[in-house]
Amino acid sequence: MALSLHLTFLFLTTIMLALSLTVSPTTEFSTTILDVTASLHPQQTQPNPTPPPSSSFTLQLYPKHSLHNPPQNDYHSNFLAQLNRDKARVNSIAAKLKLAISKANESEVRPEYLSSPVTSGESQGSGEYFARIGVGQPPQNYYLDMDTGSDITWLQCKPCERCYKEVDPIFDPSGSSSYAQITCDAPQCRQLDNKPPCKDNKCQYQVNYGDGSVSTGDFITETVSFGKTGSVPRVPLGCGHFNVGFFTASAGILGLGRGPLSLPSQIKATSFSYCLVARGSNRSSTLDFNSARPDDSVVTRMLSNPKFASFYYAGFTAISIGGQRVPVPVSTFEIDSSGNGGILVDSGTVVTRLQNQAYEAVRDAFTSLTPNLPRVPGRVLIFDTCYNFSGLVTVKVPTVSFEGEGGKSWTLAAEAYIIPVDRNAGIYCFAMAPTQETFSILGNVQQQETRVTFDIANSLIGFSPNKC
Ligand SMILES: *[C@@H]1O[C@H](CO)[C@@H](O)[C@H](O)[C@H]1NC(C)=O
Ligand SMILES: *[C@@H]1O[C@H](CO)[C@@H](O)[C@H](O)[C@H]1NC(C)=O
Ligand SMILES: *[C@@H]1O[C@H](CO)[C@@H](O)[C@H](O)[C@H]1NC(C)=O
Repeated sequence: MALSLHLTFLFLTTIMLALSLTVSPTTEFSTTILDVTASLHPQQTQPNPTPPPSSSFTLQLYPKHSLHNPPQNDYHSNFLAQLNRDKARVNSIAAKLKLAISKANESEVRPEYLSSPVTSGESQGSGEYFARIGVGQPPQNYYLDMDTGSDITWLQCKPCERCYKEVDPIFDPSGSSSYAQITCDAPQCRQLDNKPPCKDNKCQYQVNYGDGSVSTGDFITETVSFGKTGSVPRVPLGCGHFNVGFFTASAGILGLGRGPLSLPSQIKATSFSYCLVARGSNRSSTLDFNSARPDDSVVTRMLSNPKFASFYYAGFTAISIGGQRVPVPVSTFEIDSSGNGGILVDSGTVVTRLQNQAYEAVRDAFTSLTPNLPRVPGRVLIFDTCYNFSGLVTVKVPTVSFEGEGGKSWTLAAEAYIIPVDRNAGIYCFAMAPTQETFSILGNVQQQETRVTFDIANSLIGFSPNKC
């Protein structure tokens, strides 16, 4: 018989009554149910998306493993590899910010963050979600890693000086009638901030991702197609002839950052939104441009970093555990004039990182409300709060929510913060981790099954659960 453990307030109360304690228990807190069995076997039901308004563009969005198809029995080592990529991702974000904040030159920042000058490429290809986008005329479809943390969209391009293996045939400019070189005096070329020398009046781009991975080649314009929903001509793209450090099956990167050369900026999108399907799910979802924010979205201000324009920061006002606000430093939510602090929303970071003091407060609040959950002592990978749920069917856990404007709260599904780390052993962890940096990152585990809308026109970010 499967055990069902409901570690509820009532359960506590019962014990207290049994022990004839007269003190009344602590105030009640809000809980939600983690379906332990289901989080091992995510639903495979097909989504039923409502058709977006005609002025909007939609791309299909796929979780990474639908291209890679890792062996199902090796969940633990896949996850370990994913966390290593994630660490590199966080380091690369930190390196970008350090560089922007200190205005130091790259050579000064790198050694601190890079274990080796050799390309690791681990921070990219940790994109985790791929969008299917058409390039050229006639359009050829490519998988691109969706990246809210960088601006330039590029794909591998023939002739290859150095290309990695991708699932689609490599883009061949000679097969497209709309391919056009950007010249060196063009405004778009001047907007590039890391520009290799011009070659025969052909603008060259280079993107360094801070972890040693690099893509460089011609900066061009192409027609970009959004499935059957439309196309936009003359979008600036990197045609990458030299691409190293990307361990991914995709053709390149879809830059959704906030800078002027990103895809949303270039197609003058008023908004874009995505919904990341649950980890391990086989479903696809959508990346929409110009579509309205779902009515039930919890919104935050979209904050800007004065030293680094490309990142999106969500101006949450509080974090609550079990419905009770956790005392965290104000700097967790605000970006100061030197560019420190704040919570950036990143599609490519897996596990949410909280600035250390905030993390400790959140974790302590969570553990204080879960005294009876079966803990696993010590750390498991990057997590310090783990549980042994083997044999259990459901577990009741305190809610985790982020507060936005108007005091409204975005409450996460239990699966978005209690995740299986070792399936065979039934080990689950509280899926957030501390960082010694000044900033925090809202990762994609926490964003899963939520439609996140970047409302550029109104400088708001919306979070609407169950919208994949
Ligand atoms: C970059 O760093 C080197 C070595 O520390 C220094 O000599 C140079 O002046 C720096 N350049 C800039 C633009 O700060
Ligand atoms: C996902 O779908 C593919 C093809 O439909 C199938 O081979 C694979 O086993 C599925 N994976 C999971 C986790 O269900
Ligand atoms: C988890 O609990 C099960 C059942 O109580 C036990 O057999 C197993 O050894 C535990 N695993 C760990 C890692 O503590």
